[in-house]
Amino acid sequence: MTEPIILAIDTSCDETSAAVTQGRRVLANVISSQINIHKKYGGVFPALAKRAHLERIDIVIAEALKRGCGWEVRNESRDGDEKCVKNFSNPSSLPNPDSHLTSHSHIPVSAIAVTYGPGLAIALEVGIAKAKQLCLQGLALEARTPLIAVNHMEGHIYSCLAQNKNGRPEREVVFPALCLLVSGGHTELVWIKNHGDYTILGQTLDDAAGEALDKAARILKLGYPGGPIIERLAQSRKISPCGPARRDLVEISLTPPLKEKYNLNFSYSGLKTQFLYFVEKLSPEEFSQNLYTLAAVFQEAVFEQLIRKASHAIEAYQPKTLLCGGGVIANKYLRTLLRRLVREYKIPVFFPPKLSLVGDNAAMIGVAAYYKYQRNEFVEDIESLDRVPRLSL
Ligand code: KG4
Ligand code: ZN
Repeated sequence: MTEPIILAIDTSCDETSAAVTQGRRVLANVISSQINIHKKYGGVFPALAKRAHLERIDIVIAEALKRGCGWEVRNESRDGDEKCVKNFSNPSSLPNPDSHLTSHSHIPVSAIAVTYGPGLAIALEVGIAKAKQLCLQGLALEARTPLIAVNHMEGHIYSCLAQNKNGRPEREVVFPALCLLVSGGHTELVWIKNHGDYTILGQTLDDAAGEALDKAARILKLGYPGGPIIERLAQSRKISPCGPARRDLVEISLTPPLKEKYNLNFSYSGLKTQFLYFVEKLSPEEFSQNLYTLAAVFQEAVFEQLIRKASHAIEAYQPKTLLCGGGVIANKYLRTLLRRLVREYKIPVFFPPKLSLVGDNAAMIGVAAYYKYQRNEFVEDIESLDRVPRLSL
């Protein structure tokens, strides 16, 4: 049986993304990042995110269709003039808002998938409106293309199962699986009995791990997003978990939160506050001389909690596979710690197979949508689909 081709859209936060997937295979995954827009604010500025999504969404979709199915999307204005969308980065080639995406040939799309939460409300709305418009226009052979609404976090779970065009890697997940989701907005341990069957075993009680890294980077005046910058600084340091730093530097140790073994929740705001108080007391010289150490100690404390809780969950629930998703999973050191962890329990660990599948992207939404397609989980009333900014699994 040929697997369905899905056009997927994600505008949940600060990346405008569209992808074309077939089953688990990613045929195209176009991501337009807004980092340069939000950098100067030290975080995502929602109104600017919405504007950037609106400006970019048509071009990103057109590019995904072109790369994914060799499809040239045309901009057909009301007076019948047609212009090819040629220049991906040139805003003057943006389709005019009165136009609709169309073509002379049929797009072989079986369904459209869109993220409907969690995320920024006004950002989610852009992707949802576009997906509805495309479905109701009848992008596929049927008058109405089916619409699949996907939870963004489900997308991060399924990023682990994405394959390249040739169907690699071939690995299959053995259930029940445990998933560790670590992003800028979420830190969760999810029990997955089977495809689409989720139970949250633990989650953050305050800040997410990625958010904590971003805040620590702000405390250290390092820029945004903080996770990758902290990783780079910490790479040159080797320290023991939450322990004191090198003797020739200032002594810093952070008290790990939520030590009780069977509490699978996370907490990061206390670590951040301890860190802030410590850094505030340093002289400018101490601050600059210890910058690498400070980054490394904070990162270690963030990851120590992730590993400790994942380890408790594995012991308590005995999963057959560990899946890891979300932006923070891009961190090489965290992957090393997770690989070390599963070796102890003799279970396989899956990471998203490419870096472009780790952060926010539409390909993971397309892969998650494929399993929903198989279960006939389509949106019944397309017009009434609404964003759910605090959607949970
Ligand atoms: O999943 P994601 O792209 O967006 C959300 O859905 O939140 O995650 C973004 C988070 C940010 O907090 C960012 O600092 C963090 O992922 N991040 C990293 C790395 N790359 C991104 N954290 C640690 N190490 C990295 N290499
Ligand atoms: Zn995300």
